[in-house]
Formats: sequence, structure tokens, C-alpha cells
Amino acid sequence: MRTTWTFCSAGQLIFGRYAVRQVGDAARTLRAKKAFVVTDGTLIEAGVWEPVRVSLSEAGLIWQVFAGGQAEPSLKLADECAAVAAKFDPDVVIGVGGGSNMDVAKMTAVLLAHGGKSADYIGDGKVPGPVRPVICVPTTAGTGSEVSAAAAFTDTDNQVKTGMLSCYLRPTFAIVDPLLTVSCPPKVTADSGIDALTHAIEAYTAVDNAEFPLPPGEKSNYQGKNPLGDAHAERAIKLIGQYLRRAVMSGSDLEAREGMALGATTAGLAFSNVGVALVHALEYPVGGAVPVSHGAGNGLLLPFVMRFNLPKRRDEFARIAQWLGEPAAPEKAIEAVEKLKRDIGIPERLRDIGIKREQLQTLAEKTFAIKRITRVNPRPASVEELEGILQEAW
Ligand SMILES: NC(=O)c1ccc[n+]([C@@H]2O[C@H](COP(=O)([O-])OP(=O)(O)OC[C@H]3O[C@@H](n4cnc5c(N)ncnc54)[C@H](O)[C@@H]3O)[C@@H](O)[C@H]2O)c1
Ligand SMILES: [Fe+2]
Repeated sequence: MRTTWTFCSAGQLIFGRYAVRQVGDAARTLRAKKAFVVTDGTLIEAGVWEPVRVSLSEAGLIWQVFAGGQAEPSLKLADECAAVAAKFDPDVVIGVGGGSNMDVAKMTAVLLAHGGKSADYIGDGKVPGPVRPVICVPTTAGTGSEVSAAAAFTDTDNQVKTGMLSCYLRPTFAIVDPLLTVSCPPKVTADSGIDALTHAIEAYTAVDNAEFPLPPGEKSNYQGKNPLGDAHAERAIKLIGQYLRRAVMSGSDLEAREGMALGATTAGLAFSNVGVALVHALEYPVGGAVPVSHGAGNGLLLPFVMRFNLPKRRDEFARIAQWLGEPAAPEKAIEAVEKLKRDIGIPERLRDIGIKREQLQTLAEKTFAIKRITRVNPRPASVEELEGILQEAW
């Protein structure tokens, strides 16, 4: 049983329109001379990299760009990126992009400091010490990776998404500029936005900190529901409920983009201290089996897991319903999420994304094995119960 909880964030969070202009100064604060930037071709084409480049140049930094970032990156991609970075030997690693590029930047910082291969650091608490400083500049309103202690990768050998969790992965600076998300196409906005909502709902309805089922001698970066996690999750759910539809329907709605940026970062503060639960644990094997974005997979599964958790979290669900603009009844929270899914175009069913019925049992078994996440769920689930949730979602 736990009796204490802690709350961590990025070393410094800079939030607001044109915050990106402070990237160079942030790097200088770290006494950096050489910056290694992880981004991708889409972002360079969309002009999102440009203000970062200007800021680094104005601050007099020498920089090298790795433009090979890919959505849902593999462990192999992170190894390739780190090999390029090692030749440059930077003082700081800057992730410019959605969760995918930010996570590759984090792994690069780990490998620069400790050597080895990406696969060596997968799991909870495997990073042995401080890493090369990381600055994260999110360009989606989604993952919260800019403040989180996590990084996620596709393990192509085992067909599963997998994660690295370590307090050393919290970026030294998170620079959140809502204007960088304006070029996000509707699908990226919808998928990353519902990922953020999933983070907030999973954190708000997680197992209590005092009942966190941690085996003796084991440590975890996730620690269950606590008051500061609740405060951030509540704010995130309200913001995402208010602004996600608007951001998807009208990408240039700056008020909506700003609300979503704050919602995603506060959801990141919540989940990265409390934990994510069964939605994420089920999405990991689903995302490894078929090409679906992490956000779309989570959004698809979210109402089905909420229904499973409902008996344990009725009061919380009633509040969530209200925050999403519905009457304060537990079932209404599920309906609100279903409605949101439909409005922003998240796939309804597992069969819609190419999952075959015969795969469900294997997916349930793989989910059951992801203990660092399943134990955060307020209601423990057997393999059979997990398969039941997948059947409902199929
Ligand atoms: N580290 C964490 O804490 C954490 C948390 C949740 C999810 N994740 C991981 O993050 C990844 C998903 O990240 P994501 O949802 O942010 O999407 P993403 O980073 O995969 O980006 C999706 C696509 O959108 C494009 N894009 C991003 N920003 C854009 C912009 N402003 N304009 C135009 N195009 C843009 C990218 O180039 C990419 O092609 C997954 O791998 C997921 O597992 C990590
Ligand atoms: Fe997520």
C-alpha cells in the first residue's frame, strides 16, 4: 500500500502563442552550443520547423536536423536517429513534432548518455541515470510527451506498441506554442485530441494511490489517483470537451487550438503522474497488429473500457458527464464520449480498422501481460474479461 505520492513535470514549461521563439534561449540557458533536432518532412513542408530554426540561429547555436521522424516510430528508427546524433555529439536534443518525434528525441537522449540499443530501455525504470537534456516542442495537441516521463515505440518484431518509463525522461524544457498546431490536418487533430481525453479520463478514474497494487520491492513511475492528478485531469476534460470539435472542424480557430494545447498538456501532467490504464493497455497490441494511430485506437476503445469500469467509478463518471456538457449521470459520460467520437470521425469498431475476430484472444493475452499499465485500472481484469471488452468493441 502506498501512503505518499509525488508530482513531477518538465523542468520548465513555457506556454503560449509565439512561445517557440524562446527555443534558442532555452538551449542557451542549458549552456548548449550544439543542438540536435528530431523532426519530419511533413513538418518541414508545413513550415512548422521554420520558427524553431530562426530561434536557434538567432541564439547562435549550431544545429543538425534529423528529418526522418515517422508516425508511431519503431525501436529501429530510434536507434538510427541516435546513431546520427552520436556523430554530431550535441549538448541538447530537441523534439519538434507530435508524440512520435518527441519520443524519438527522448530515446536519442537516453542512447547518447548511456549507449546500447533502444530495446534495452523498454519498461519501467530501466534508464540508469540522467540523459542528455531534452527540449520538447509539441506540434499536436495530444500526447503530453512534452511533460511526461514516457516514450512509446512500435516493437515490429513482436507486433506490439511498447513504452519506456523513467523519471529521467521528463524534458528539461517543454515549449508549448498553440500556433504550431494550426497546420494539423483534421484527422491528426482528432486522433491526438482524443488521445489527450483518454489520458485525462484514465487518470481521473484510475485506482486510488492508497490502493495502488505494487508488488513488494517494485517501483513504478505511475502511482494512482491523487489530488493534483485529479485537478489537472478535470481541467483537461473540460477544455477538451469545449474545444476538440471546434479544432477539428475549423483548424484556424485559434481559441480552440489554444484550449486544446492547454488541455493536452494538463492531461499529460495528470497521466504522467497517475498512470494510464486499460484503454492504453488494449491499444498497445491493437496498434501493433494493424496500422492505426495511437489516438484513433484509444478513441475507439475508450467508451468500451469506460463501460467496464463504470461499476467502480460511478461518481467520477457522473462528474465527467457534467464536464462534457451532459447531465450528471454516470452513463451520460459514456454517451458523451460516443457522441464526440462520431462527430470527429474516430472509427467505431475494431473490425473497421482491420482487426479479425480470431485475433481477439491473442490481443487480450498480450494486454494482460502489460502489468505496468493494467494495474492502474480501477477494476482488475482477467484475460477473459479483456477478451470480453474486445468482443464488445469488435
Ligand atoms: N510519450 C508519451 O507520453 C506519449 C503519450 C501518448 C502517446 N504517445 C505516442 O505518440 C505518438 C503519437 O503522437 P501524435 O498523436 O502527436 O502524432 P504523431 O507525432 O504521430 O504525428 C502524426 C502525423 O501528423 C503530422 N503532424 C504533426 N504535427 C503537425 C502539424 N502541426 N502540422 C502538420 N502535420 C503535423 C506528423 O508529421 C505525422 O505525420 C504515438 O507513437 C504514441 O504512442 C506518447
Ligand atoms: Fe496516449
